[in-house]
Amino acid sequence: MADFQKHGQNGEPPNGQGEVNRRDFLAEIAFAALGIAAGGSAVVTYRYLSPNVLFEPPTKFRAGSPDLYPVNTVTYLPEQQVYIVRTTDGFYAVSAVCTHLGCITQWKPEADQIACPCHGSKFRPNGSKIEGPAPRPLPHFLITLTLDGELQVDKLETVKINQAFKV
Ligand code: FES
Repeated sequence: MADFQKHGQNGEPPNGQGEVNRRDFLAEIAFAALGIAAGGSAVVTYRYLSPNVLFEPPTKFRAGSPDLYPVNTVTYLPEQQVYIVRTTDGFYAVSAVCTHLGCITQWKPEADQIACPCHGSKFRPNGSKIEGPAPRPLPHFLITLTLDGELQVDKLETVKINQAFKV
């Protein structure tokens, strides 16, 4: 018998062997579906078992050398949302987060003010309130000096508004 009769017209094996291939194909799809389901279950289980921890940026940060900040300047550090204010009295680290509803304030050098764009609160460079709905002045954070002489700000430690850090 000629070879083409054994394999059918399209090269398929005759008499049900094509069905076996279809069965294999369906089995492969079933295995793939099971694999996807198992993978999904593993992800859900891993997320359930892993601790529910919120990763936040560190609260202590280096603000660089004191020489970076000329006297009588306000420098905004956007990553930290803190103003480094230097006056003739020393350094202040003033929060840029408005005490009304938490908007990020903006330094307006032309007006010599820190202004909140949300509801119009205004603050002096030392964080004390001028006007607006903010209930409190902008908090000041503790400044220390690292061993290698850089300013270090700790956002967990607040200090009095008139407590300047002298270098
Ligand atoms: S959030 Fe700043 S004034 Fe309302």
